[in-house]
Amino acid sequence: MKATIGRLSHVAIAVPDLDAAAARYRDGLGLPVSEPKTLPDHGVTVRFVELPNTHIELLYPHGEGSAVGSFLEKNKSGGLHHICLEVDDIVAAREELKAAGARPLGEPKPGAHGNLVVFLHPGDFSGTLIELEQV
Ligand code: CO
Repeated sequence: MKATIGRLSHVAIAVPDLDAAAARYRDGLGLPVSEPKTLPDHGVTVRFVELPNTHIELLYPHGEGSAVGSFLEKNKSGGLHHICLEVDDIVAAREELKAAGARPLGEPKPGAHGNLVVFLHPGDFSGTLIELEQV
């Protein structure tokens, strides 16, 4: 691959109650948790739990047809939704992965940090949805 994969950006967990989940990490584990931020293009409201080496992204559905909403219908108590890996060149990475038979889900678009992100079909990665974030 010409594009280089870097650090783990975050692990994302879909949650049925965003404030309850934030309180659990903040009060239960003593971790800083960001304020909610809604990303209409992605159909989610997110809060980030800060860890020294990465983040946990708490995901709650926003709007009609949210993929996270469908996920929660099948996983009512929530669960692991995706992992996000940093990449230096998201356009090159997408093309290379596509050429290798992976299935990128759409074109790169701005994610929670304003950086370009693209998702890769979980069927190509042992059942785990992968997000790539350009940094
Ligand atoms: Co994410």
